[in-house]
Amino acid sequence: MSTPTSLLIRHARIILPNGELMNGDVLTQGSTIVAVETEIANAQPTIEIDAQGLTLLPGVIDPQVHFREPGLEHKEDLFTASCACAKGGVTSFLEMPNTRPLTTTQAALDDKLQRAASKCLVNYGFFIGATAENLPDLLSAQPTPGIKIFMGSMHGQLLVDQEELLERIFAQGERLIAVHAEDQARINQRRQEFAGIEDPAIHSQIQDNQAALLATQLALKLSKKYQRRLHILHMSTAEEAELLRQDKPSWVTAEVTPQHLLLNTSAYASIGTLAQMNPPLRSPHDNEVLWQALKDGVIDFIATDHAPHTLEEKAQTYPNTPSGMPGVETSLPLMLTAAQEGKCTVAQVVNWMSKAVAVAYGIPDKGEITPGYDADLVLVDLHNYRPVNREELLSKCGWSPFEGWNLTGWPVTTIVGGEIAYAHGQVNTQVRGKALNFR
Ligand code: DOR
Repeated sequence: MSTPTSLLIRHARIILPNGELMNGDVLTQGSTIVAVETEIANAQPTIEIDAQGLTLLPGVIDPQVHFREPGLEHKEDLFTASCACAKGGVTSFLEMPNTRPLTTTQAALDDKLQRAASKCLVNYGFFIGATAENLPDLLSAQPTPGIKIFMGSMHGQLLVDQEELLERIFAQGERLIAVHAEDQARINQRRQEFAGIEDPAIHSQIQDNQAALLATQLALKLSKKYQRRLHILHMSTAEEAELLRQDKPSWVTAEVTPQHLLLNTSAYASIGTLAQMNPPLRSPHDNEVLWQALKDGVIDFIATDHAPHTLEEKAQTYPNTPSGMPGVETSLPLMLTAAQEGKCTVAQVVNWMSKAVAVAYGIPDKGEITPGYDADLVLVDLHNYRPVNREELLSKCGWSPFEGWNLTGWPVTTIVGGEIAYAHGQVNTQVRGKALNFR
């Protein structure tokens, strides 16, 4: 049997679990961090990495992505998506059930796990999707971070928008329920009101702040009635943030995407339908309130909602264009650039993108640089600004809403389970992640 890889990362600026910075070394053995010290002497590593001038963070855990396999591989697949993850410093992801077939049964979940085991460079977990009929599957499916409910912005079986059906799901079982909170009845009504308009900017008016607020209010009401663990996915409005600020039970968490913090409705003028997503981009005022809510702990963490569509699909005319944008390659540099600009601290970014996610989903031994924790790590360069270039993107969709943005904090090296999955522009396609556990 070959001996496991041992990495010695030397002279890094290490972000410690308490948020403090330490200049020092990290030693990994196999898939585990075994030492974090100012200087590690006498180690005999397989590989030594000189991290002078670089900052070492726990790998990003992206808790909401759409990777399209099985069934929609022309947009993305688990291999291309996980290469993009490795390049973006994302060492674990939680993926959504709107693939084909839908992930609404144990068999579909097992199929995804099997596919991921054979082709995924980073660690993976898959949500089970709620339908009107699959309550037994929702109660028994394993392993999964939780139940995903599309309260709106979906069609077919995955749309669960009737209060009575939602209540049945909230009333039974204990596992986490993650909601896409938009009110479908209001969206339907406003689609009729604004029918015929081809300017994609109308998307933010059709699926307006009120549509998001109504659904978040309903999810909160049901969660409180049954004291049911609730997670609000990609919260996008000032109104929802204020609601949670007033009234957030201890068993409720919420996330925000980098695009809802950093882009707003002005993006339609520059990038058109590439700015179209659900829930839609909002106003600069919403950006500000969401930032404050994140900094105050009203919003717990960051997710990308990586939702790739091809440029051909996006080139159709609204409303025939699909909603969604990719994100795993740019989320960490976007947030670290915000930190360099003084909007937040690097330690806050680490908490929002690693630690807080691991805690909320009960993922053991991830999200911290601590001996005994998994060796999922990312070395970033905080002092090298480079623009987002379409030609360099690894996501199969081949575009980003942030093209041309000059960012810093790009990953130099990404380590998954003690193996180098990405270094200096090259992905190591031999590396494989593992299925995540959830407490
Ligand atoms: O814009 C979106 N696109 N939001 C979602 O929640 C789903 C996603 C997709 O799968 O394309």
